[in-house]
Amino acid sequence: MFYNLDCIEGAQKYLKSNSVNLIICDPPYGINGDKLDKHYNRDESNVLDGYVEVSQKDYPEFSARWINEAARVLRPGGSIYIVSGYSQLRHILNALANTELQERNHIIWKYNFGVYTSKKFISSHYHILYYVKPPCNNLTFNTNAFFADNEKSENGGSMNYLDREDVWIINREYKPGQIKNKNELPKSLLTKMILYSSNPNDMVCDFFLGSFSTAKIAIGLGRQACGFELNKNAFDYQIKEIEKIKSGELLPELRNVPENKLFNKGKPLTQDEIKKIITEFSQLTQKGITKKMACNSISEKYGRGYWSILNIVSSLDNLNRKPQTTSSFFD
Ligand SMILES: C[S@@+](CC[C@H](N)C(=O)[O-])C[C@H]1O[C@@H](n2cnc3c(N)ncnc32)[C@H](O)[C@@H]1O
Repeated sequence: MFYNLDCIEGAQKYLKSNSVNLIICDPPYGINGDKLDKHYNRDESNVLDGYVEVSQKDYPEFSARWINEAARVLRPGGSIYIVSGYSQLRHILNALANTELQERNHIIWKYNFGVYTSKKFISSHYHILYYVKPPCNNLTFNTNAFFADNEKSENGGSMNYLDREDVWIINREYKPGQIKNKNELPKSLLTKMILYSSNPNDMVCDFFLGSFSTAKIAIGLGRQACGFELNKNAFDYQIKEIEKIKSGELLPELRNVPENKLFNKGKPLTQDEIKKIITEFSQLTQKGITKKMACNSISEKYGRGYWSILNIVSSLDNLNRKPQTTSSFFD
């Protein structure tokens, strides 16, 4: 399933249309990436030689060609994540706009240790374009991949909400002394995309394998993987490494997501339920319990989201409130 080939040629030859569940791609950046050691000021002796870069002149056509292939091989309802720096982002966006793929999110990946500059702000984020292939009735988005709906952070915020914000703060990994590719994606970034957008045994494809990081994590999480890498040096080294990964070996490292207590989330509220919620809320607040605590307790009991309970009791507040005149705002 792994080929030491140009991804466009390889996909045309080996991948059937509508056959892949998830594509994760981190294409060459078109910024002289073969000289990235200069940017990162690091010891290059452990970095595999032979990184294949694409010139700025060729970047628009190159992007259009590989993104067309990716759109073809993705199954309807399948997802694609493309990691891109700012320099060539417009070409990737243009290429995506010329396919049937639909945008879901433009994610910002904030990383640590950006390229240091003293006379301008330090570049410390990448763009991740998350698109899907329509029709999307069979879309995989595992909303509770990491957190149940009702899990709270220390300051009372929803962990699930925070995890699904479109700014991801994820550190790069440093692997001193280990053989690596020029710019490897971190394990937690890949795990996030794979767990949200695929299911066990799904096929995950990476057109630019580099260190095979996508494939290694996908297999470790019990998915299947395939892909292409043009650099023979990296390919020959990594193809032996990937054989050492056992399917599902990373699964025990994942946290156990507690059972989702919001069992009625999304179901329409009955009049009877609304009446009961209002009565219970009044009883609790009359006992001196705060509005927030009352809503939390009712939310757990009825298996409904905090905000849906708050909406019901706030509409009650609004009914009871006297109409305000303009002058009352300034009292
Ligand atoms: C940004 S790196 C990918 C890094 C990878 N995500 C990782 O975590 O190691 C891009 C990779 O694409 C490879 N490449 C460049 N042009 C290619 C092509 N036409 N087909 C396949 N691979 C290509 C480069 O050699 C490089 O390894």
